[in-house]
Amino acid sequence: MNTAHTEFDIALVRNDFPILDTEVNGRPLIYLDNGATAQKPQSVIDVIDRYYSEQNANIHRGVHQLSQLATQAYENARETIQHFLGARHSYEVLFTKGTTDGINLVASSWGRQNLNPGDEVIISTMEHHSNIVPWQMICEEKGAILKVIPIHDSGELDMAAFDSLLSDRTKMVATVHVSNSLGTINPVDEIICKAHSAGALVLLDGAQSVPHMRVNVTALDVDFYTFSGHKIFGPTGVGVLYGKEDLLNAMPPYQGGGDMIEKVTFEKTTYNTLPHKFEAGTPNIVGGIGLAAAIDYVSQFDPSSLAAHEQDLLDYATATLSEVPGVRIIGTAEKKASVISFVVDGLHPFDVGTLLDQQGIAVRTGHHCTQPLMDRYGIPGTIRASFAIYNNRSDVDVFVAALGKAVDMLA
Ligand code: ALA
Repeated sequence: MNTAHTEFDIALVRNDFPILDTEVNGRPLIYLDNGATAQKPQSVIDVIDRYYSEQNANIHRGVHQLSQLATQAYENARETIQHFLGARHSYEVLFTKGTTDGINLVASSWGRQNLNPGDEVIISTMEHHSNIVPWQMICEEKGAILKVIPIHDSGELDMAAFDSLLSDRTKMVATVHVSNSLGTINPVDEIICKAHSAGALVLLDGAQSVPHMRVNVTALDVDFYTFSGHKIFGPTGVGVLYGKEDLLNAMPPYQGGGDMIEKVTFEKTTYNTLPHKFEAGTPNIVGGIGLAAAIDYVSQFDPSSLAAHEQDLLDYATATLSEVPGVRIIGTAEKKASVISFVVDGLHPFDVGTLLDQQGIAVRTGHHCTQPLMDRYGIPGTIRASFAIYNNRSDVDVFVAALGKAVDMLA
C-alpha cells in the first residue's frame, strides 16, 4: 500500500509505481505511452491482489457473506466514481468495459430508439475510431446523417463551422474532451451550451481527460460522459458511462442476460432498475473495485498541483523537442493536455519508435486510432509522447537526447 501524500512530491509519487524501477532493453524504463495506458500504483495492485486472495465472490446474487462483502465493495466503488464525477446519483454511473463500450452502449441503445431518417449526429475530425464507427453504424441502420466538425491546422475545432452544422435536425453531438492524438482540450462548455440550445444531446469521450483534469458532469450539464479505467491508473477491461437519470431510464437495455432483469417468463421480460438494467452478466468486479482504488489514489492530490506539474512537463518537452532538427509538432492548440505528437522530416514514425525502444523509451507510434485525423494532416502517423503524474523533467531529457541520437542514426 502507498503512503498517503500530503502534497505533490514527484520523488514520492514515483515510488508508488513499482514498474518505474524496471529496465527495458537494459536501460531504465522511461514510460511516455500514458495515453495508451497508464501504469498502476502499488495501492491498486494491492487492492486487486487482496480481492482475489481474500474476498472473491460473485455479486448481487449470493446470501453468503463473501458475496455480500463483494457486492458492498463493488457498490462502494460506484459511489467513489459518482463523487469523483460529481454525478447526482450513483445509479447514473454504469460500469462498462471501457470508453469504447460506453459509446457503443449509447449509440446502440439511445441511437436505435431516437434516431430517424434525416436526423443528424455531429462528431469531429479529431475523434478516436471508437467515437466514429459506432455512430456510422447506427446512422447507416437508421438512415441518419453523420456530420463532422473540421479543425484548424493548430488542432483546434473550427467552432464557426460547428455553429453552421448545428440545426434542429441535430440529435446528438459526440466529441472528444481531450484529443488522444493532439492533446487539444476542446471547449466542451461551449459545445454543450450550443448543442442544448439546438435541442441536441451531448456525449463526451473523456478517455484522455479524466487522467489530466477534474471533471464535474453536473456542472458541465453533459448528457453522457464516458472514460476507461486503465488510463487513470486502474485496471484494463473496466470503464464508466455516466448518463443523466431520465435519459438512461428512457433507454432500452443494451444487452440481455442475468442481473439486468426484474422478471423473466417465456412470454415477456421486465427489466431491472438503474444501473443494473445496463449491466447484464457478471461484471468485471475486481476491475470496478480496482478503478475506485485508482480514483482514491489520484484524488489525494490537489488537482491544481497535478495540473501545474503536467503543464510544466508539456512546456518543457515542447521547448526541448522543438530544438531537435526536423521535428514538427502536430497539434499546437492553445489549451493542451500533456500529450505531444510529432513527425520528423523524412523519417517513418515506426523507425523512430523502434530506436527509442532500444534505449528503454516507450512512446506510441502510428495513427493512434484516428486515421481521418492523420488524413487531415496528410501524414501516415505520428510519434506521440504522453505524460502522467509520475513523469519528470529527467524523463524528457533522456527522451529528447535519445530522439536526437535516433534522428542522427536514421538520417
Ligand atoms: N486510444 C489509445 C491511444 O490513444 C489506445 O493510444
